[in-house]
Amino acid sequence: MSRLALPVITPLADGFSRRISYLRVSLTDRCNYRCSYCMPDEGMVFRPRKDLLRFEEIERLVGIFAGLGVRRVRLTGGEPTVRANVVDLVGRVAAVAGVEEVVMTSNGHLFPELAAPLAEAGLKGVNISLDTLDPERFRALTRRGEVERVIVGIDAALAAGLEVKLNAVALRGVNEADVAALCAFSWARGVVPRFIEHMPMSDGQLYDVERQLDAAEIRALVEAHFGADLVPEGEAAAARGPARYWRLVGDGAHRLGIISAMSEHFCDTCNRLRLSAVGALHTCLAYDDAVSLRDLVRAGANDDELRRAIMAAVAGKREGHSFQRDGGGGPSKHMIAIGG
Ligand code: 5AD
Ligand code: SF4
Repeated sequence: MSRLALPVITPLADGFSRRISYLRVSLTDRCNYRCSYCMPDEGMVFRPRKDLLRFEEIERLVGIFAGLGVRRVRLTGGEPTVRANVVDLVGRVAAVAGVEEVVMTSNGHLFPELAAPLAEAGLKGVNISLDTLDPERFRALTRRGEVERVIVGIDAALAAGLEVKLNAVALRGVNEADVAALCAFSWARGVVPRFIEHMPMSDGQLYDVERQLDAAEIRALVEAHFGADLVPEGEAAAARGPARYWRLVGDGAHRLGIISAMSEHFCDTCNRLRLSAVGALHTCLAYDDAVSLRDLVRAGANDDELRRAIMAAVAGKREGHSFQRDGGGGPSKHMIAIGG
């Protein structure tokens, strides 16, 4: 396909008139960490290399999505930086006509080394997962992580000019004591912390309602610690992704985001699609349905056939998730296999 002209096609919209402008691309289902809320302790089967989309295939598919109106691409995993030659891939995706922004979600472990080359290749921002600043708790949660390295990685990302946000899955009895500390840590660096409600992926096996910290509880923790109310921001920031943003009254610099799939749904503004590492297009995180674009590509489909397959999948995008507080209603797939 020509890189000079984008085909003139009606932007992608689903059956609920939601415009799709954001594609998350998983580069691998592997990770150098083993977070207990993201993957099971045992029984994880990783996909062989030949099953993964090759860089040319990712580039081609991203080009087709961009032709349909996707403007923002987020590279995820597993852990995207463990994919060999990830810097090269960022450069290729950033060069795709129509793609305005390439960002990444990472655990930050390899950012001390990779932040500068990734930024140079065209990466604009990174959301780094950091659930606690306490080294022992961090190691226990990630089963192998080094919090000091992640902090160096965050600072390397900032030094490289990347827009940095922090992601923390907030769990009662695990890291609720870290919520305020993560805010203070982030705000001291000009970074926005975001707290994520645990979602029952993995057939609910990693989920425990007793540990569910709701958005309202997270806000109350922050308000109590900092002695000020949080007020919601307008919809503009929220239109870009799933987080709703709040700021402390009296201090415009102190913002935080909350991704509250469980207690305050955001499905009505969903603008996202997900392409798994093996090339399956998932129109919703919360269901197992997917169509393999990789199989179509490898069977010789032309761009038009791929566009039609994408549009048909998007037409069937579900109205919303049906996660339940008893851990039911979600998909069998593990978060590590789809990248959030
Ligand atoms: N629910 C919510 N967030 C999760 N993450 C991993 N597993 C889950 C889950 N079950 C988070 C990671 C990362 C982001 C991609 O998703 O911490 O920040
Ligand atoms: Fe790896 Fe991220 Fe899952 Fe942790 S949350 S195991 S860092 S993919």
